[in-house]
Amino acid sequence: MKIIQSISALQQEIGLQKKEGRSVGFVPTMGALHNGHLQLVKRCVSENDVAVVSIFVNPTQFNDKNDLVKYPRTLEADCKLLEGAGCNIVFTPTEEEMYPEPDTRQFAFGSLETVMEGACRPGHFNGVAQIVSKLFDAVAPHKAYFGEKDFQQLAIIREMAKQLKYDIEIIACPIVREADGLAMSSRNTRLTPTQRKNAVEISQALFKSRNFAAGKSVQEVIDETVSYLNTVPELQVEYFDIADARTLQSISQWSDTEEAVGCIAVFCGEVRLIDNIIYGKVRP
Ligand code: PAF
Repeated sequence: MKIIQSISALQQEIGLQKKEGRSVGFVPTMGALHNGHLQLVKRCVSENDVAVVSIFVNPTQFNDKNDLVKYPRTLEADCKLLEGAGCNIVFTPTEEEMYPEPDTRQFAFGSLETVMEGACRPGHFNGVAQIVSKLFDAVAPHKAYFGEKDFQQLAIIREMAKQLKYDIEIIACPIVREADGLAMSSRNTRLTPTQRKNAVEISQALFKSRNFAAGKSVQEVIDETVSYLNTVPELQVEYFDIADARTLQSISQWSDTEEAVGCIAVFCGEVRLIDNIIYGKVRP
């Protein structure tokens, strides 16, 4: 496995591989890797001749600077895990390499970015689009892999790839959960043991909401889920929205969409966790 820091060295290496007719898959990450990332990497390894993973904690997507400072950084352990997963190239650029000068591009994603994460984290998706487009330019992969835990991010990246006409297949991979249901996240390592125990209620509440969705209105599902989670110690729901899975616009009745998704953000102490659940077509 090669560890490369500069864009020019990366492009040279990938250029050689492509010249040999090899396909290139790419998994962008911010490091602090867990099994969720490794599932993306393993899929990337199995579907491509060359698997590239980037590790870069992107400052422009953090609207909360405290979150950026506290974001876990575990480069050495990450590289070991990537080697074990069959990764061929790890790209670990510095901030100067990715942003030799400030990126002033302003993307416009319309109603996709004005809801949920976009509404709560101003500038977040612009920062994601900035870095993912720079990484796409640097790696120029055939396929790129993203987790469905960041459901809205995936929709934004698809839209960005369309707007900038990238010839890259965007592949969505299912959420990977701990044995008790908690969605895997690099932020989970910041939870205290008690918070970790309480955090499991987030996924459990989503699973329950799917079980009783058919007997309730959309608003009832939202209200009951939010009021239950807010009774759990240290949990505070920031939003829980039930939306059309394609447009991400809120629905008021199950019949408003063929496929509904419930997206949630919850503070567990000061750690902000997100999760989501697909309801599919609910027939009341
Ligand atoms: O999902 C993430 O880890 C990040 O948002 C990404 C896609 C690597 C961009 O920094």
